Amino acid sequence: MISQSWKCEGCGFVTVGLFPPEHCPRCTADRSSFQKDYEFKFPEEEIGGVIAACFKVSYGLYMISSREGEKVNGQICNTLFQVTADPPRFAVAINHDNLTHEFMEKSGVFAVSILGVNDHRIVRRFGYRSGRDFDKFKGIPVITGRTDCPVYRDAIGYIECEILTDKTVDAGTHSVFIGDLVGGKVLRDEEPMTYSYFRETKDKQ
Ligand SMILES: Cc1cc2nc3c(=O)[nH]c(=O)nc-3n(C[C@H](O)[C@H](O)[C@H](O)COP(=O)(O)O)c2cc1C
Repeated sequence: MISQSWKCEGCGFVTVGLFPPEHCPRCTADRSSFQKDYEFKFPEEEIGGVIAACFKVSYGLYMISSREGEKVNGQICNTLFQVTADPPRFAVAINHDNLTHEFMEKSGVFAVSILGVNDHRIVRRFGYRSGRDFDKFKGIPVITGRTDCPVYRDAIGYIECEILTDKTVDAGTHSVFIGDLVGGKVLRDEEPMTYSYFRETKDKQ
């Protein structure tokens, strides 16, 4: 039996199951507002194990920033990785709806503040609310490098990239941006934050 994911056309809420829920838990719309979003390619009874395996994939945790003219914004991401060493090239998956996505498309550049193991405060500030609602960088100490994107001054380091627009991949909800490395620096000596460490410790902070 194949399990499915269902999207509420009213508010965008996504849930998993063989059938859509009777009511949307977010906006209370009834079952008819749910459309099939994606059909998993494995049997429903394996979902728990498959998801558990997915959480064994390890990631870092970063603050990606970009700009539009004088305006700046940033968000948290765990999906950054180096694609090739020669040329030095990075990829990152960013949700289409995010303000950071809009700024990255417009400016063609992004910076990556590499967070330290104690940077929970930055994850909370940049990872849960959009810069469309408030100025995330207000009161945050920043430096700028070659791309003019703001970098968290107390990060353990940063890198900067220029996006290769012809290589951006539309992956459904997210774009995978690929960028060539144009700068970077180590700022202080601390262990980098990982996604799994953040998940383990976020409620204890
Ligand atoms: C631990 C964590 C990891 C995240 N990873 C990603 C990611 O890889 N890609 C992404 O698009 N959003 C990711 N997010 C969500 C964005 O940071 C979040 O939606 C943010 O509010 C978007 O802000 P913006 O609209 O100001 O750009 C992550 C959030 C957290 C807390």
